[in-house]
Amino acid sequence: MTLLSRGDDPPIPPAAPVGARVTGAQLRVDLTFQPSGTRVRVPPGVTVFDAASWNGIAIDSTCGGHGTCKKCKVRIEGPVPASPLDARAFSPDELRAGWRLACRAQAGTDLSVEVPPLVTRPKAATVGVGRQVILRPAAQKRYLELAEPSLSDQQTDLERVLAALDDLELRTDLAVLRKLGQVLRAADYRVTAVIVDDVLIDVQPGDTTGHLFGIAFDLGTTTVVATLLDLTTGTPLAVASMLSKQQPFGADVITRISAVMMDPAALDALARLAHETLAELTAEVCGSAGVDPAEVCEVALAGNATMTHLALGIDPEPLGVAPFIMSARLLPEVLAADLGLPVHPRARAFCFPAFGAYVGGDITSGLLASGMDRDSRTRLFIDIGTNCEIVLGNREWLLATAAPAGPAFEGAAIRCGMRAADGAIEVVSMTPDEVTLQVIGDVPPEGLCGSGLVDAVASLVTVGLLDTSGRFVPEEQAAAVAPGLAGRLTMLGGQADSVANTERVFVLHWRGEPGDVADSIYLSQRDVRELQFAKAAIATGWNILLEEAGLGPGDVQQVLLAGSFGSYLSPASAIRIGLVPKMPALRVVSAGNVAGEGAKMALLSVRERAGALALLQEVRYVELSDRADFNDAFVDQLAFPG
Ligand code: FES
Repeated sequence: MTLLSRGDDPPIPPAAPVGARVTGAQLRVDLTFQPSGTRVRVPPGVTVFDAASWNGIAIDSTCGGHGTCKKCKVRIEGPVPASPLDARAFSPDELRAGWRLACRAQAGTDLSVEVPPLVTRPKAATVGVGRQVILRPAAQKRYLELAEPSLSDQQTDLERVLAALDDLELRTDLAVLRKLGQVLRAADYRVTAVIVDDVLIDVQPGDTTGHLFGIAFDLGTTTVVATLLDLTTGTPLAVASMLSKQQPFGADVITRISAVMMDPAALDALARLAHETLAELTAEVCGSAGVDPAEVCEVALAGNATMTHLALGIDPEPLGVAPFIMSARLLPEVLAADLGLPVHPRARAFCFPAFGAYVGGDITSGLLASGMDRDSRTRLFIDIGTNCEIVLGNREWLLATAAPAGPAFEGAAIRCGMRAADGAIEVVSMTPDEVTLQVIGDVPPEGLCGSGLVDAVASLVTVGLLDTSGRFVPEEQAAAVAPGLAGRLTMLGGQADSVANTERVFVLHWRGEPGDVADSIYLSQRDVRELQFAKAAIATGWNILLEEAGLGPGDVQQVLLAGSFGSYLSPASAIRIGLVPKMPALRVVSAGNVAGEGAKMALLSVRERAGALALLQEVRYVELSDRADFNDAFVDQLAFPG
C-alpha cells in the first residue's frame, strides 16, 4: 500500500510563471503516425497510446491503455526505452527493431510511429465536440480468482488481493478491511476488486465486472443535468435535468454569495439544497436505467466556482468581492458522499478545477470537450450568461477572461422578456414589410427570450429602423425605409407627440387589438440599450484578449458558442449586432452543452482528465476589472457595426 498514483500517468507540465504565456515550443513534441501520415503535437511524457487516442487514431487495445492486454503494439522510430512489459511482449530482435507497447511508450522527443492494422475494435465513445475518447475510466473492476491461504501461504487478506493487482500501486481504507475477510471466505476467494484511480474502494463477492457506472453532473446556476454512464462501454444510459433547488436564494451567483454574506447559516442551507438536487437526479437516472445507485463508483462535477464552492460547503464570500479569490484552484480528494450522493459509499468525485473566480470548472470542462487546446486554428469560445466566459487561442496558447454581461440574454431586465420556455419568441425575422416570429411550443407568444431579443435587434438594424448607435429612427425615416413596419414603431404610455412618461417601442406582436401597445409584445428603447450593454461587455472581453495576443478580429477562424443559449442564438444575428467578430456565419457554431460533455469525458478517460488538469497550466487568465482601458473599450463597443 502506498500513496503513489499510477506510474503511467503523464507528468503535468510545471506551472508557468505568473503573467507569462505558455507556448507550444516548451510543452509539445511532434509524433507522426504511419501509414496515415497524421502529425500530432502533445506534451512530453504523454504515452504514444494517449497521443493517438486524443487525436482519433485507433491503436489496438482491449484494456484501454491499462497495460494488461499487450495488444497495443507499434513500431517506433526514435529513442523510447523498452519498459519491463515490453520485454515480456516482444523478442529481443523486435525490441531492437523499435517495437513497443504504445500505452507504455512515453514520448520524450519527436517520434515516428507505425501503427499496424486493427485486430480488435478499441472500445471508444464519441463525446464532446466530435471527440472520440478511448475508454479508460479511472474507475475499473478486476475479477480475481485467488488461492486460499494455507500454513505455507500466510499472506494477509489484503496482501493476497493486492498481489493479484501488482500492476497497480493501490491504497485502501479501513472500511474495505472491515469486510474483506468475510467477503473473501464467503465467495471462495472469487471476488471483484473495485478501484478508482489508485484507491481500492471495495472488494465484492463473485464477478461484478459487468456492472460499473458513473454519473456526469453539469452543475449549472439555473439548471443541473445528470448523465448516467455505463463505464464498461461508454454508453450513456439515462439523462435527467432539473432546476437547482438553490433558486429561492437568487437566480445568479452574486445573489447566492450575498445570501451567505448576510447570513452565515445560508451556507449550510445552500449546500444542503445542492446535495438534494444532485441526489434527486441520481435517483432519477438510476431509476430509469434500472441501475442500483450503489454500483455508481465515480461521479464528475463541472460547475462554476461559486456553485462548486457551495456544493462542497466552502464559504464563497471571497469570490464575490475584489480581489475575487478562490479557496483552491485544484480541489483535494472529494468523495461522492461529500456531495450528499446516495451512491457507493466510497465512490470518488472528480470536481473540475477552475481558472479563476469567474472562469470556473464548467469552462475547464467545456474547453476539454471542445478540444480548444488541440486545434491549430485560432478559435474564440464564448459561454454566454449573466457572467460570460470567453477563451481565445489555439493549441499553442490560450487566454481566458470573464465579462459581466448582465441578465439581458436570459430575458431578465427586458420589458417583455422571459426565459426560453413555451410561449417565448425565439426567432424573429423581418423584411421592410413584415415580421415573422417563431415561438417555443407553437403557442401564442407571451414574451421574448434571449435569442429572440438578439434576432429582433439585428433585424431592426438590418431593415434600418434602428441606427447603429442603437436609437429608433424618426417616424418619417421609418416610413421611408420600412413602410410595412412603420406602424409598429410607436409610443408606450402616451401619444406619439407627448414626451412625458413615454417610451418608443417596436411592437413585435399585437396580443389584443392592433394599436393597444400596452397589451402587445414589444421591444423598447431601454431594452435595446440593455442588449447593447450586454453585447458591449462581451465584445470588450474578446477584443482585449485579441489585443493581448497581438491579433485582430479577422484572425479568429471559428467562434464556438457554448451553453444552452449558444445553441439557440442565430449566428447571423450575433455577427450583425457585433456580439462576435465579423466572419462568414458558418464559422460561428454552437458547441452545445460542452460542460456536461467534458464531465462525461473525465469519467470515461483518465487521460482526458489529465488533459483537463494540464489546461490549468496552459490557460492564462486576464482580469478585466482592473484594466484602465476597459471603460473606453466598452464605450467603443456599444454601437452596432455599420
Ligand atoms: S497493453 Fe492494453 S493498451 Fe497497452
